[in-house]
Amino acid sequence: MTESTADLHALAERYLLPVYRQRPIVLERGLGSRVWDRDGREYVDFAGGIAVSALGHGHPALLAALVDQAGKLWHTSNVFLSEPPLRLAQALVDASRFARRVFFCNSGAEANEAAIKLVRRWAAMRGRGPERRTLLSFHGSFHGRTLATVTATAQPRYHEGFEPLPAGFAYSPFNDLDAAGRAMADGTVCAVLVEPVQGEGGVTPATPAFLQGLRALCDRHDALLVCDEIQCGMGRTGHLFASDGYGVEPDVVTLAKALGCGFPTGAMLVGARAADALGVGSHGSTFGGNPLATAVAAVALRELSTPGLMANVVRQAGAIRDGIAAIDAELALFDEVRGAGLMIGAQLRGAYAGRAGDIVDACIGNGLMLLQAGPDVIRFVPALNIGDDDIAEGLRRLRGALGTLFPGP
Ligand SMILES: Cc1ncc(COP(=O)(O)O)c(C=O)c1O
Repeated sequence: MTESTADLHALAERYLLPVYRQRPIVLERGLGSRVWDRDGREYVDFAGGIAVSALGHGHPALLAALVDQAGKLWHTSNVFLSEPPLRLAQALVDASRFARRVFFCNSGAEANEAAIKLVRRWAAMRGRGPERRTLLSFHGSFHGRTLATVTATAQPRYHEGFEPLPAGFAYSPFNDLDAAGRAMADGTVCAVLVEPVQGEGGVTPATPAFLQGLRALCDRHDALLVCDEIQCGMGRTGHLFASDGYGVEPDVVTLAKALGCGFPTGAMLVGARAADALGVGSHGSTFGGNPLATAVAAVALRELSTPGLMANVVRQAGAIRDGIAAIDAELALFDEVRGAGLMIGAQLRGAYAGRAGDIVDACIGNGLMLLQAGPDVIRFVPALNIGDDDIAEGLRRLRGALGTLFPGP
């Protein structure tokens, strides 16, 4: 090792566009829910690559799928078929209650971008002019960083300086069904885009009445319901699709993150109402449905669909919540703990507002990878197959970090 970790950070500062706030470590390898940096320090991983590494690091079945496919065929483009994307599309349609067809892409933003194009084309095919093709999304949402998806992201801080924003977007308060009804009353909304559990906005679940009510509003006003399950889908809530847990059948679901469990890939699943909205030449992606990505994702889907894994989500979510409650009994840091399954947010009390980033830093110093969701919420999105020892050790390290940062009431 010729260069130090500090040297590598100097390289990052010099050569990378500084769009991320990065912690002062350089990670080298991972196994299960443990990760090691290049200085040999070990971390418990409660961050899961931001809800991506749903089967942990170095999962043998994913590795075998990748190596097997890598020896056969890496890329074909979408003008020539290969088998892995077909098998994955079939498995996704079979696994969902609503989907008829799948479009593959490479990221969450691309999946939502595809959905935005699809709903507009769907409305156009019904004879609706551009003024009646508005997409409604919700305060606190996060849908991606492309110009259209950042516009759908109803948080002004993501818009600043990127104006002029594209037209055809409207916003409404999250979990306020009456307000959504008012926003849709004039018939200009052609689709509603909603995260069943808001992730970046603070780990806030939709209430069942809200999500089910949106379904009814979409039916009443001839609009499509698009569920962004990029963060909350693929088993994270204890259901393969988060919308399943609400008993809601969307028209479109977007997936990415845990779909490839770390291999970049995304998908848009489309139900019967809009399955014919995008025809030949209307959309595409060079890498979408790439054989390597879809071979890995097919095995990931199989592993994530097992009842044992969903039971682990429920059990370990309980363990994390119990651990947070025990810490809170001592340190009185949190106002509320919320989320669904292994997507958990702990909202800091007023006195600690704005300190979530400091907590994440302190955890890194104490061998734990954790996330924030905004300045006031710490977020737990570990692997769905995380074991008892990892949970216990991660909570111990969290308690240690918090005790150092906030020595008690
Ligand atoms: C709910 C949701 N939608 C969309 C995205 C964007 O995904 P990507 O970063 O893969 O473009 C994210 C990323 O955090 C997300 O959480």
